[in-house]
Amino acid sequence: MSALIDRLVVATLPLVPKPIVKAVASRYVAGDTLEAALDKMRVLAAEGAMGTMDVLGESVTHRDQTVATRDQYLRTIDAIAASGLPANVSVKPTAVGLAIDPALALENCTEICSRAQSHGMFVRLDMEDSPYTEATVKLVLALKDRFEVGAVLQAYLKRSLSDIGRLLEKKVNVRICKGIYVEPRTIAWKDRQTIIRNFGALVDKQLAGGAYAAIATHDEACVQLALATIDRLGIPKDRYEFQMLLGVDPVLRKSLLDAGHRLRVYVPYGKDWYAYSTRRLKENPSMASTILRSVLGMAPATS
Ligand code: FDA
Repeated sequence: MSALIDRLVVATLPLVPKPIVKAVASRYVAGDTLEAALDKMRVLAAEGAMGTMDVLGESVTHRDQTVATRDQYLRTIDAIAASGLPANVSVKPTAVGLAIDPALALENCTEICSRAQSHGMFVRLDMEDSPYTEATVKLVLALKDRFEVGAVLQAYLKRSLSDIGRLLEKKVNVRICKGIYVEPRTIAWKDRQTIIRNFGALVDKQLAGGAYAAIATHDEACVQLALATIDRLGIPKDRYEFQMLLGVDPVLRKSLLDAGHRLRVYVPYGKDWYAYSTRRLKENPSMASTILRSVLGMAPATS
């Protein structure tokens, strides 16, 4: 029954007034401004966590928008460096032009990576939906010759085990996550346990291959598989980090930090919050009740 209600609320999410979506999704986004993101980063740094900042926006179709996003990344990188906070940046390739022209994305990413490099900062390119997988892998490989740049691979994609092999040839730092977009069964695993096993296999291949792994999950089963691999291979703590999203499972976050693991929180900010926020709401197990309580003007349930 509750799965049915969840599906109903997901289907009607576009009808929920944006102010309500914004209110219930506010835990996932640092705020509209760079200052808000830096404030959030200060709180996380006080907990012992690192951060990666994302300027919200994606699937951009106009060149001038990509330039505006690139410039906001340059300001973000300078501000992080000036603050001394333990943070870097994550960039969505379509926000800097991948859907318009791969050469434009390469040009914008080169500027972002050059600025980051001048501060000794790492840049990660997020992975979006499957029409962009190959172009994103190629973009990272092209940038890797000159910059400290990392990739993301999704455990639900059947091609990821082979892609990680390509990235390992250049020892690219890879963030391994389950994947959030809706993909066809021809190219993506659909069974939850299969995705978890593939997540474990990707972490294993990356670490055994001698490269740095960013283990991005809030799923205890994935965390446990990664810890078992780290233990079995005797991987030192500076060869991997856990990563979690802002607003998700602070208890797991604290337990990993308390155990001495490096942990980085994804800190998105900006005015284009809608697409990111609705993806997060859809994967929140208590999303239906959270939205319904807000629509009905009731206080949020504790979570
Ligand atoms: P799962 O979804 O099974 O969640 C495990 C548990 O975590 C849930 O049972 C719940 O308790 C909690 N939880 C998870 N999401 C929640 C939410 N939104 N609200 C409340 N509780 C929640 N994907 C992608 O395709 N490309 C990318 O570049 C990235 N980048 C990225 C960076 C980082 C730092 C993280 C942590 C994740 C991503 N992702 C991503 C998203 C990723 O693919 C995946 O969709 C989410 O991490 C959720 O998967 P879990 O492994 O957490 O498992």
